[in-house]
Amino acid sequence: MQVNLHEAWHIGPVQIPTRLVLAPMAGVSVQAFRRQGRRFGAGLVCSEMVSCAGLQHKNERTLGYLRIAADERPLAVQIFGSDPAVMAEAAAMVEDAGADIVDINFGCPVKKVTKTGAGATLLDEPDRACRIVQAVASAVSVPVTVKLRRGLENRSRACLSVGPQLVEAGAASLTLHPRSAKQMYTGTADHSLTAELVSLVDVPVVASGDITSRARAQTVLATTGAAAVMVGRAAQGNPWALREILDGDRAQPSREEVVAELILFMRETVRELGEHRATGFLKKFYGWYLGRGRFPRAFKAELTQLPTIAEAEARLFAAVPGARFPLARLEEESPPSDEVLLDLPISIYGGG
Ligand SMILES: Cc1cc2nc3c(=O)[nH]c(=O)nc-3n(C[C@H](O)[C@H](O)[C@H](O)COP(=O)(O)O)c2cc1C
Repeated sequence: MQVNLHEAWHIGPVQIPTRLVLAPMAGVSVQAFRRQGRRFGAGLVCSEMVSCAGLQHKNERTLGYLRIAADERPLAVQIFGSDPAVMAEAAAMVEDAGADIVDINFGCPVKKVTKTGAGATLLDEPDRACRIVQAVASAVSVPVTVKLRRGLENRSRACLSVGPQLVEAGAASLTLHPRSAKQMYTGTADHSLTAELVSLVDVPVVASGDITSRARAQTVLATTGAAAVMVGRAAQGNPWALREILDGDRAQPSREEVVAELILFMRETVRELGEHRATGFLKKFYGWYLGRGRFPRAFKAELTQLPTIAEAEARLFAAVPGARFPLARLEEESPPSDEVLLDLPISIYGGG
């Protein structure tokens, strides 16, 4: 039986128009990525994880500020940390800035985060994890959700004991990426655990991990009973994957469309991060957009070596002059909107 991905669902009172969620990815999920995800049919988008410690140590090197625009909503802003009180304070700021949902990261496997007692390590400390969820849930009126891995060690089933406790503590939805922290991104996501988690809790569960096609999304939804699927790596430089998963539309984008989306992405990212940070940040996106057999390897390499974004843009237009027309249309349809700047440092460490 085919599951209708266009069916709306809810996290608490927040209506999510489709059963496709765009994953939070540190170093990726900037506003341009989230707005693009919404345009291509994601029902919910997530910020990359923001550090709560940044609140306490205002003088720490500030990495950037999270922007929130009206047209990305519904939006979940993800926070990470290990101190319930600091997390609660950060959650209140996130709510004030306009987030529809506060998401808590209990999945990040990266050492820099886990050694501070945050991220996936909290799966081994269920009491503290629950105190964090309780503190955050009582600090905000928007729904609080949690994203977790299966556990720390390979074959761990910690998510099945911790998950229901987090719901008891106030989580309105859980997203499970059923790999262990140790696995990082190797091996495969074991969605039989997602099915087990669904059977144990009475809140919507989102399935994350290896959703790369409509066929895979359909199988995972049908076999787990999850409310939605989350798509991460498959959407990097490839929003068309979202359309394929939602509608089965397998049409490959033209070179004009690819370059138009890339240039829009570049322009929005410069506005968000500033020219200096955007220059380094965008390099991986050149590979993601221009790869997949769309452009020759040498072209990708040439682009990443150009010292400025203006030069990269000029080079793209020189290669595909016809990209100007779809780009003009996109900029008309998706103008910069009124934005809120959220005074929280964006993490560079991410993972989950
Ligand atoms: C580069 C990268 C950064 C990530 N950063 C985060 C993050 O900040 N928070 C989080 O909860 N998960 C993060 N993740 C995990 C993803 O949200 C997702 O659960 C995981 O990639 C599995 O989904 P996929 O197979 O669709 O990529 C990250 C993943 C990648 C690849």
